[in-house]
Amino acid sequence: MKLAVIGYPIRHSKSPFMHNIWMNELNIDGQYEAIEVSPDQLEQQIHFFKENNYTGFNVTIPHKENVIQHLDDIDEAAKDLGAVNTVLIKNGKCTGYNTDGNGFLQSLLTKRSEAEIRQARILILGAGGAAKGITGSLKSFGASQISIANRTSAKAVSLVDALGLTGEGMDLSKAQNQLQDYDIVINTTSVGMFPHIHQLPIDTSFMKKGALAADIIYNPLRTQFLLKAESAGADSLNGIGMFVFQGALAFEMWTSRKPEAAEMIIKITDKMKQE
Ligand code: ATR
Repeated sequence: MKLAVIGYPIRHSKSPFMHNIWMNELNIDGQYEAIEVSPDQLEQQIHFFKENNYTGFNVTIPHKENVIQHLDDIDEAAKDLGAVNTVLIKNGKCTGYNTDGNGFLQSLLTKRSEAEIRQARILILGAGGAAKGITGSLKSFGASQISIANRTSAKAVSLVDALGLTGEGMDLSKAQNQLQDYDIVINTTSVGMFPHIHQLPIDTSFMKKGALAADIIYNPLRTQFLLKAESAGADSLNGIGMFVFQGALAFEMWTSRKPEAAEMIIKITDKMKQE
């Protein structure tokens, strides 16, 4: 079985490490490789995958949106999102999916029960592609109280409207003043990502004790957003779980086998610490 991830740049991707371990563990004869593909090579690369009998591939920055025009079909949720991270090739046809939102949800389920997530007062920071995917998955799962805060508040308001959420759209300073009202706060922005590790989207030291701060960032493993939340007595969840579960969902689509995720979270965390 031939699999790959395409991106530009791609050398820091942990996907080959993860998928090759899973194939090994499940005795699947195959290889998952990282291929650096510049935007002008994208179309040609997809032809190559089809002609060489690849089972599928992952798509990362900067191709998640542009890949869509080169696919034969697209899953409804990925179409709404306008972004694809997983492609399945069957009978020479490429179908696009997006496993990021459900990957985040699976990760959240390692920290909170189904009932807790459905009843939680949830605050999403950011209103871009990542926010849209995560919010869509949380809503489909049955989360009933979701608000969105964004630097550009108009985008948060439109996303709340577009998704028909019961919560409100607001700017980041209003969100910071309301932090005591939320049980789960999710950072979907890139604020705090390496090398800007001292930045944070809002000051989470005002969070409620026992609440959960979740970041989609995993470099660094503990962002300022998470560290300040911990100092307030909140629980924290970094982006490694989301990364592993988005990969596990893709792996299941390609192989019809369910890979082990808990051990993989530990393995990737250890690998990140060594780098
Ligand atoms: P992605 O697909 O990763 O979500 P995106 O669609 O470009 O990327 O969205 C980036 C998000 O991070 C946006 O919500 C953006 O806020 P704006 O809509 O106001 O641009 C947010 N973001 C990026 N840099 C930020 C910063 N320095 N401070 C606050 N928010 C920031």
